[in-house]
Amino acid sequence: MNAPHKYLIKGVSVLGRPKTDLLIQDGVVAEGDAKGAEVVDADGLVALPGLVDLHTHLREPGREDAETVESGSRAAALGGYTAVCAMANTSPVADTAGVVEQVYRLGREAGLVDVQPIGAVTVGLAGERLAELGAMATSAAAVRIFSDDGHCVSDPKLMRRALEYVKAFGGVIAQHAEEPRLTEGAQMHEGEVATRLGLTGWPAVAEEAIIARDVLLAEHVGSRLHVCHVSTAGSVEVLRHAKARGVRVTAEVTPHHLLLTDERATSYDPVFKVNPPLRPASDVEALRKALKDGVIDIVATDHAPHAVEDKECEWAYARPGMLGLETALSITLSVLGEDWDLIAERMSRAPARIAGLDGHGHDPVPGAPANLTLVDPAARRVVDPAESASRSRNTPYAGMTLPGRVVATFLRGTPTVLDGKAVK
Ligand code: DOR
Ligand code: ZN
Repeated sequence: MNAPHKYLIKGVSVLGRPKTDLLIQDGVVAEGDAKGAEVVDADGLVALPGLVDLHTHLREPGREDAETVESGSRAAALGGYTAVCAMANTSPVADTAGVVEQVYRLGREAGLVDVQPIGAVTVGLAGERLAELGAMATSAAAVRIFSDDGHCVSDPKLMRRALEYVKAFGGVIAQHAEEPRLTEGAQMHEGEVATRLGLTGWPAVAEEAIIARDVLLAEHVGSRLHVCHVSTAGSVEVLRHAKARGVRVTAEVTPHHLLLTDERATSYDPVFKVNPPLRPASDVEALRKALKDGVIDIVATDHAPHAVEDKECEWAYARPGMLGLETALSITLSVLGEDWDLIAERMSRAPARIAGLDGHGHDPVPGAPANLTLVDPAARRVVDPAESASRSRNTPYAGMTLPGRVVATFLRGTPTVLDGKAVK
């Protein structure tokens, strides 16, 4: 890219503070002479640290028809992200040093966000034998987070051994909390709506029982646990209790669990099928409260692109999952309001800390790495799936008007998005 190395972001509000100018030079937020800098008019815009997603499905290798590292990276940059953690449920599974290095390299080549691979906990996500955790940790991809996401590590002995193993190098196990026997054949949340529709239910206790077990295991081992896509009020209470005891546990919630309820299933539109499923309004309320008070640490997208044939079919046959990268900030904004410091904490600083991504999660002030995003909070946009940079179209927000628009994103001082459009 032959873009200039110097930008002057004029009249921007850093995290809602009074307007200022930000000079971006040589990959950092700088002070000093702005002569020769390209001016970015940021009147009315808010600067945030570049967002960090701890839970992204990029589908490469294996399902490049649904997403590639490059297309997912572009969707991420357009959503204001400068780093994403790529889930391991690819084909082949990211359970070896070779596969995580491949994903890492593809991320570098795309050059739109930092792609940090997550390694599988068990070989082939089969839940039987531990994968090569050490080899993935010492590989060029320097894996720190391990997850069988899509599947639960349901064997308590394996879970214990995984927690013990990663403790040695400060790793973390990210659990998809779903007791498999309790969710056999499940199609949606177990409750009144499922009864009405005659669909097999996914009970809240299937999530809560695994989280309760795992916080006890993490406490016993003294290791770090991260809980993926928390979806129920009961899970929040288990986490609150564990955190009060000093257990080293962190937790995420997705934008869709913060906004949508199981009533959406009455449409029988598989775009609303997701795992864990959409829950009733009382759970949504508890999740919003937990995100505000810190029992839930972060918003993570669970961006889960699926090809048309895997989504536009009968509900029972459709794959679970929704797009998330391009809409996450708008939805979080609508849930938290314009509390920019809290948004920065939940979507950038805290996820960067959990993932150990040292170059990310820094407020855009002089001296910081220039990983940042500029948001227009006054803008409104109608979500059009055809406009997505993702290769897939399965957004549950089609036709909805959402607040806020990402105007620009910078990765180490180089723009990846300008005027709301991807630079490459
Ligand atoms: O809805 C989901 N989709 N939940 C998961 O855990 C996996 C994900 C996927 O890979 O599509
Ligand atoms: Zn999951």
